[in-house]
Amino acid sequence: MGNSDNNVFYGSFGKEYLDIVRGEGVYIYDSNGKKYLDAASGVCVVSVGHGNEEIISAISNQIKQISFTYGVADNIPRQKLAKKLDEWAPSGMGNTKTIFSSSGAEANESAIKLSFQYHQERGNLNKTKIIGRWQSYHGNTVSTLSVGGRTSWRNSYAPLLHDSLHISPPYCYRCSSTDSHSSCAEYFANELQQVIQREGADNISAFIAEPIIGTSMSAVVPPKGYYEIIRSICDDNDIVFIADEVMSGMGRTGKKWGIEHWNVSPDIITTSKGVGAGYSPISVSIFSEKIWQAIASGSGSTTHSSTYGGNPLSCAVGCAVIDYIEKNDLISNAEVMGEKLMTKLSEELSDIPYVGDIRGKGLLIGIEIVSDKNSKDIFDPKLDLAHKIEDEARKNGLIILSGVPGLVNGVGGDHLEICPPYIIDEGHVNFIASTLKKSISDVIFSIEMV
Ligand SMILES: Cc1ncc(COP(=O)(O)O)c(C=O)c1O
Repeated sequence: MGNSDNNVFYGSFGKEYLDIVRGEGVYIYDSNGKKYLDAASGVCVVSVGHGNEEIISAISNQIKQISFTYGVADNIPRQKLAKKLDEWAPSGMGNTKTIFSSSGAEANESAIKLSFQYHQERGNLNKTKIIGRWQSYHGNTVSTLSVGGRTSWRNSYAPLLHDSLHISPPYCYRCSSTDSHSSCAEYFANELQQVIQREGADNISAFIAEPIIGTSMSAVVPPKGYYEIIRSICDDNDIVFIADEVMSGMGRTGKKWGIEHWNVSPDIITTSKGVGAGYSPISVSIFSEKIWQAIASGSGSTTHSSTYGGNPLSCAVGCAVIDYIEKNDLISNAEVMGEKLMTKLSEELSDIPYVGDIRGKGLLIGIEIVSDKNSKDIFDPKLDLAHKIEDEARKNGLIILSGVPGLVNGVGGDHLEICPPYIIDEGHVNFIASTLKKSISDVIFSIEMV
């Protein structure tokens, strides 16, 4: 266990961390040799599993050739990966171009800055504000925290954040509208229209959203029709639509991109976790033809860049990961195993009276715990129930993620996230569901006893 007497500046000073020394496939092993099924993929990262020999040999080959270039010294893996991402991008984005960086937050910073530049190049000098959604996460830098809506993390640094606008997340499980799902889409999407009217379209640069909402809401899937309305509002008001696919991209949801569950193409896609798959830090911002053309035919350049962005080693990893996903048809496996996991979880957890919602797409799945299924009341946040379940599952050999506090109105709500590598099989699915059943039941039973 990692602990407070070493020199690592941990996120939490009181917490014990596992010392993980090895990984193989869907399993990781601690320094005592204990084995865990990694149903979190790290944190939605290890798409192709741990210790993947094909990725390791791609890394080794690339290092032997060249591991770093910069500036005018371009490299072949970067060009190859940008081409592959162009093939993967939704056709509505046209011929795309990609800026590379090293983390999800940086990818979103690129998207935010280049959206601004897109408007500047076209003479729309006041289009500067970004609209995000509450209970969203786009990274932990000052700018991405500002446009994000994770109140529990924003509050600690509030005076540093810059002005940005937020609308409600399309959270149908707790929708206050009594209408059907399709009007639920209008109900939530129209909030964007209202904010634009209030602030003036001439002042808004971009709208940023996680197509399927990740760690702040554990796999909330917006209703059918939602993004089609969002897209048309953005078009009508000359607002750039940024799809943050850091979590939902690269095939995790059973399609290449989460946004493809709707009939919509964004203007910019950002992604990171699944493309590096834990083998090298890499993130990408994929720009539609509309965006990069405005810059190419305007000033013809951008000052935005970063030292490690597009380094040959990380890009070789990205190429190898995509090859592996394609060769092994892993997006289909994510879809099929995701459906099996949802079914199995529903069967196993249905008789626990505190499991309020099981949701998600593909292998991005969330479970919401409530104190009463009918009222959907939440447990007292002081109980820290989701963390307790996460800890209990770990004792039982299963790694899952407890959702970040603040799911309900930014203050409470217990949720769990399950996002295993795309290589899982039915045996793993059964283990995840039965271990979760035991872990949730044991934790809630112990609380009822108090
Ligand atoms: C949707 C989303 N966007 C952005 C980020 C930030 O990525 P990073 O931690 O690599 O900066 C995350 C990280 O969890 C994320 O889930």
